[in-house]
Amino acid sequence: MQKNVNILAIESSCDDTSAAVIVNGEIKSNIVANQKVHEQYGGVVPELASRAHQKNIIPVVAVALKEAGISKHNLSAIAVTKGPGLLGSLLVGTTFSKTMAFALNIPIIGVHHMQAHVLAHFIDEPKPTFPFICLTVSGGHTQLVLVKAVNNMKVLGETLDDAAGEAFDKIAKTFGLSYPGGPQLDKLAQKGNPRAFKFAEPSVPNLDFSFSGLKTSVLYFLKKQKAGFIEQNLIDLCASVQYTIVKVLMKELIKAVKKYNITNVAIAGGVSANSEFRKIFEATGKEKGWKTYIPKFEYCTDNAAMIAISAHHQYLINDFENYNFIPLARWEL
Ligand code: KG4
Ligand code: ZN
Repeated sequence: MQKNVNILAIESSCDDTSAAVIVNGEIKSNIVANQKVHEQYGGVVPELASRAHQKNIIPVVAVALKEAGISKHNLSAIAVTKGPGLLGSLLVGTTFSKTMAFALNIPIIGVHHMQAHVLAHFIDEPKPTFPFICLTVSGGHTQLVLVKAVNNMKVLGETLDDAAGEAFDKIAKTFGLSYPGGPQLDKLAQKGNPRAFKFAEPSVPNLDFSFSGLKTSVLYFLKKQKAGFIEQNLIDLCASVQYTIVKVLMKELIKAVKKYNITNVAIAGGVSANSEFRKIFEATGKEKGWKTYIPKFEYCTDNAAMIAISAHHQYLINDFENYNFIPLARWEL
């Protein structure tokens, strides 16, 4: 009888501490501890993130193992996000994982965070067929990716400045919303008019993106308004900003599909949890005859289940790290 492949996966690249257990490619647990400490600062404070990871990592791992009903002594390997991300945050996850793997004398797997966002599509059915195009939109990245296989991805275009999630969060902050503003802006926008205000729709050559112009355009627009304007127009402001960001994202995605003539199309990353983006993406796909793939909500924002599914595929080809590997704040896909 073949032995089970039991992998414990850990994610700590930014401000979520997460652990998951995967058995023979099937997710058995996925625990995420969010860090509330950043709310008051309007963005992630790296040093506070590292400290919160240190506090969370042991209980999060313990709950993930318990929920999966797996003892640490039955693990086949430990996987961890190797990068990209905040170095201090990555150090907590990688140091913990290396130590645990070394103590248990089992292999350690280093996972690419952006590859994992794409592979979140391989957790449940329906899984995309290769090749497909994935627009990965998160707080740190905005990437159009050509996915030829689980371990063969090519970036077709990406943001030249701010990521889409960063644009959501920074603009939400100017509206007085706490960090992360993206999900709150999404909620408020549902009651607003997306055409109430017109903002810059930054466009750059090739399949790249730019969002800093939009942020500036909103800022200058607000500067010209009277006191109380934001409070009186909040839902319309949110709807208009969301409409603009989604329009910019969809424009490049449509261009990529046309250029590469690939109609299996996916979205991934934290911003793929945005209700308007999901709606427009699906409607566009229907209209253009694409086969569309949207991750479940819990697999859009940072989670260890996506690290676990990547690790499962890496385990099958013996893609292991040395116990002394170092995390990478920057790492090309
Ligand atoms: O993938 P993720 O959890 O972390 C990174 O890898 O960066 O993405 C986090 C980003 C944040 O900027 C957050 O505001 C955004 O995803 N986000 C959303 C929504 N949910 C999360 N943005 C807009 N609408 C949402 N519903
Ligand atoms: Zn992420």
